[in-house]
This record gives sequence, structure tokens and C-alpha cells, in this order.
Amino acid sequence: MSSLKTIGIIGAGQMGCGIAHVSAMAGYKVHIYDLAQDRIESGLATINGNLARQVASGKMTDEERKAALGRITGSNDLNDLAQVDLAIEAATEDESVKRKIYAQVCPVLKPEAILATNTSSLSITRLASATDRPERFMGIHFMNPVPVMKLVELVRGIATEESTFSAAKAYVTSLEKTITVAEDFPAFIVNRILLPMINEAIYTLYEGVGTVDAIDTAMKLGANHPMGPLQLADFIGLDTCLSIMQVLHDGLADSKYRPCPLLVKYVEAGWLGRKSGRGFYDYR
Ligand code: CAA
Repeated sequence: MSSLKTIGIIGAGQMGCGIAHVSAMAGYKVHIYDLAQDRIESGLATINGNLARQVASGKMTDEERKAALGRITGSNDLNDLAQVDLAIEAATEDESVKRKIYAQVCPVLKPEAILATNTSSLSITRLASATDRPERFMGIHFMNPVPVMKLVELVRGIATEESTFSAAKAYVTSLEKTITVAEDFPAFIVNRILLPMINEAIYTLYEGVGTVDAIDTAMKLGANHPMGPLQLADFIGLDTCLSIMQVLHDGLADSKYRPCPLLVKYVEAGWLGRKSGRGFYDYR
């Protein structure tokens, strides 16, 4: 355990719930805040299901599952974040949404609390400027599915203090994750490399080079990827994929990051991948 004892999670989506899951497993008290009570309830059910998988595969006992679950609470009342030592914002990948959340959350948090963002692409320095604590703000970027993926990217903003960074590092280390440090550039390291590959796979489909199945099979069996790039895009969420490509395109001003028109069209259609029931695959 680190010096931080209580973790607040803002957003009960797949990332927020994954971060709550691994934090509770490591012994932290966790409070999940979301505007919608039904999202909190379905998030807690997902966490329970994923903990149960780990019991089934012998990674933890049923007592450990119950204890971890007992350390997690959830509510749609912001004031319940007043006691947390570290709040991790895991809201949708939209800067205006994140800014609104910081404006509401900062007055509630303890002055000494650290506020972190799980953004997968946005500028930490720019997000920090929308808070009352740029020196106690940074990026802690988990990968999906959080309980399985071993990596966490840590990203400092220009004003992040060393004590903030070292507290975040101790917290992530206590989750038994491996840290990689990235500079504050669009999409950091993982998504700077991964998303152009996914975008290229979508161009490959768009130009008729291969079918969905051919492209995914090619990369699974030809490059040993655990998931094909189109299956992975559906898993991440096509809206998130598009927003990361837009951040790369805008931030680096290079046409090689142009989002594939087919990706844009799918998002406009509301075909967002697994979470909406339809993407490159049909989940209905
Ligand atoms: N919670 C807990 N455990 C989980 C889980 C979850 N959500 N999802 C899978 N698991 C566990 C399973 O229980 C299983 O455990 P055992 O080996 O102990 O039985 C193990 O993970 C493997 O799962 P499955 O057998 O169900 O399926 P799989 O072998 O196909 O693996 C996968 C699933 C781990 C998701 C694998 O396909 C994979 O690694 N895919 C690539 C994921 C990836 O690239 N993630 C990064 C996305 S990019 C990102 O996150 C950054 C961003 O900002 C967009």
C-alpha cells in the first residue's frame, strides 16, 4: 500500500470500474462516483463478475473477492469524494466533459488530495489548467481490461510536483502494475503507436484489401496479436478510437494521422463497437 488510503473514481464505465477493481484488490477503500445511479449499479455488477472470474481461475479466494467488493462503495453524490486521497477521473474522452467535471469536483476534494486523469490522449498540462491544483494533477493511464493488462502509463504535466508523481508511482506499484513514463505529447506512448495501427486496419477494410475476418485473422496469426485490430477497435470503443485519432491529427498536424472516413461514418451511425452492440462485428 502507498500513503494514499482512499481512492475516488469518477465515472463508472469500463475503465473506472477496472481501476476500482484493482484498487480494491490491493486493499484500498474505493468510492465510485457517477451521475447515473444505474451505471454505478451495473458497474458494481461487472466488477463482481470479473472478480468471480478470477476466483474461478484460482487467482483469488472467494473470501478475497468478498473483501475486495466490501471495500467499494458507489454513489451519485459528489460530496462522497470529500475524503479521498486520490481521485482518478475516468470519464469519456472529451475535453469539455472533463473540464466540467473538474469544476465540480475540485471544490469538494481535500486541498491536499491528488487529482489524476485516465485520459488516453489529451494534454495533461491543458487539463491541469482547468483544475485548482495543477501541481497535484497528472495522468495515470490504465489499459483495458484493467485487471488483466500489466501496464500503466504515468504522465506529468508541466506543473506536476515530484511529490505527486512519487505518490502516484507508489500507488500504481502497489497494484502490481508495471509503470512506463511518457512525456505529455498527444496520445502518449501506447496509443501513439496502437491507434495508427488500428486506423490503418480500418483503411485496409475501407479500400477493400481484405474483409473484417481476413484483416483480424492476418494480424492474430501473422503478427501474434491477441485480438485482431478491428476486434480491438470494437473493444476499445470506436468513439474513443476516433477521438484519439483526432487528438493525434490536430496535435501533430501530420496527414498520416487522418482518421479513416469509415471510422468517422461508423461513429456517426452510433456503431461504437461492443458497448453499443454493433461495430465491425455484430454483438446483438
Ligand atoms: N477482468 C478480469 N479478468 C479478465 C477480464 C476482466 N475484465 N477479461 C479477461 N480476463 C481474464 C480471464 O478470466 C482469463 O483469465 P485466466 O487466463 O486466468 O483464465 C484471461 O483474462 C484471458 O481471458 P479470456 O480467456 O476470456 O480471453 P482471451 O484469452 O481472449 O483474452 C484479453 C482476453 C485479455 C482481452 C486478450 O484478448 C487481450 O489481451 N486483448 C488485447 C487487449 C489490449 O490490447 N488492450 C489494450 C487496449 S488499448 C488501451 O486500453 C489504451 C487506451 O487508452 C485505448
